Amino acid sequence: MSDLPPLGLYIHIPWCVQKCPYCDFNSHTLHGELPHQQYVDHLLADLDSDSSQIFGREIATVFIGGGTPSLLSAPAMHRLLDGVRTRLPLAAGAEITLEANPGTVEAERFSGYQRAGINRISVGVQSFSPQKLARLGRIHGQEEAMAAARLATALGLRSVNLDIMHGLPDQTPAEAENDLHQAIALNPAHLSWYQLTIEPHTAFGSHPPPLPDDDTLWETYQQGHRLLTRAGYQQYEISAYARPGYQCQHNLNYWRFGDYLGIGCGAHGKITQRDGRILRRSKTRHPKGYMQGNYLDKQHQVAPTDRAFEFFMNRFRLLEATPKSDFKNLTGLTQSSIRQQIDRAQECGYLHETAEHWQVTERGTLFLNSLLALFL
Ligand SMILES: C[S@@+](CC[C@H](N)C(=O)[O-])C[C@H]1O[C@@H](n2cnc3c(N)ncnc32)[C@H](O)[C@@H]1O
Ligand code: SF4
Repeated sequence: MSDLPPLGLYIHIPWCVQKCPYCDFNSHTLHGELPHQQYVDHLLADLDSDSSQIFGREIATVFIGGGTPSLLSAPAMHRLLDGVRTRLPLAAGAEITLEANPGTVEAERFSGYQRAGINRISVGVQSFSPQKLARLGRIHGQEEAMAAARLATALGLRSVNLDIMHGLPDQTPAEAENDLHQAIALNPAHLSWYQLTIEPHTAFGSHPPPLPDDDTLWETYQQGHRLLTRAGYQQYEISAYARPGYQCQHNLNYWRFGDYLGIGCGAHGKITQRDGRILRRSKTRHPKGYMQGNYLDKQHQVAPTDRAFEFFMNRFRLLEATPKSDFKNLTGLTQSSIRQQIDRAQECGYLHETAEHWQVTERGTLFLNSLLALFL
């Protein structure tokens, strides 16, 4: 393996005011006060124990996700990012994203985050409809969603993302479109537009709400996609739209099979070693165990037989073409090892091949699971 891929840093904040019924992220309802400084101490100790993995490699991007990172106080955020900067070489102008829940947004704290070095905020709006927000068990209403998005855009950060979900219980295409109209009117540089999925170990998983049927979902997607595209947002991943130049660099690195350190409860990391081994690590999920100093939960090496699937699983979510050279550099495998699967994918109309690239076709995006299954 000649080049090591770019390296990101993911930091997980595991608490939320209350658990949303559709959510299977590692988030825990906060009882009492968040242990701001204590948790930051653990994050930095966790980072210290990881630093031997990366031999002084530069950090290209930082993403603080959750849970609800916007519950962390501004001084704690400052100490966290200062601690990161003193421990690792952070690239000049690195994208540093924070996820925020509109129910936890205060102007002063957000200015504090900005002074700490946050230059991109991702606001979990989900919907602007009061009824839909209530159905989703959100802690905020329409006004707070609007105010949070306005506050984030007014800070003059490098970029703001709004998360919007569609395919909500009883949602019509017109209602979904209305959410997008309101989001676009706020003029964010980036919009993540997720279709609601029902995850098994959630409240919706046990008591599924009435969801739109497949035809309605398809109509919603087509109308929404057209609206976003006409408004100047380019789709670059299945659920991600951005104005030109404002793609999320941190997520792009995941999808391109880049490397990342993960610190905090349940955080995942993927690190390519200089000898070509690829190591996956995950941290203790529950705050109780994690805050006893037991950071590392599991680690394993990605077997060469799993690498093609893992590479394409991420890569084929992107609309951009995949350079064949990336496959070789990032997996250490030869093209001939996947020749049969690539030929089959072309026969099925999922993939187009040139001398330098593979490009997923529209049909391939539509049948992504069948395309990926070829590499299992
Ligand atoms: C980890 S959450 C972070 C944001 C913050 N915790 C919040 O909810 O406001 C990231 C985003 O994933 C999306 N999401 C979470 N669960 C989902 C599900 N079951 N289906 C589709 N999208 C989901 C939501 O849009 C959410 O804003
Ligand atoms: S606020 Fe976000 S992370 Fe927390 S439970 Fe809701 S969707 Fe999940």
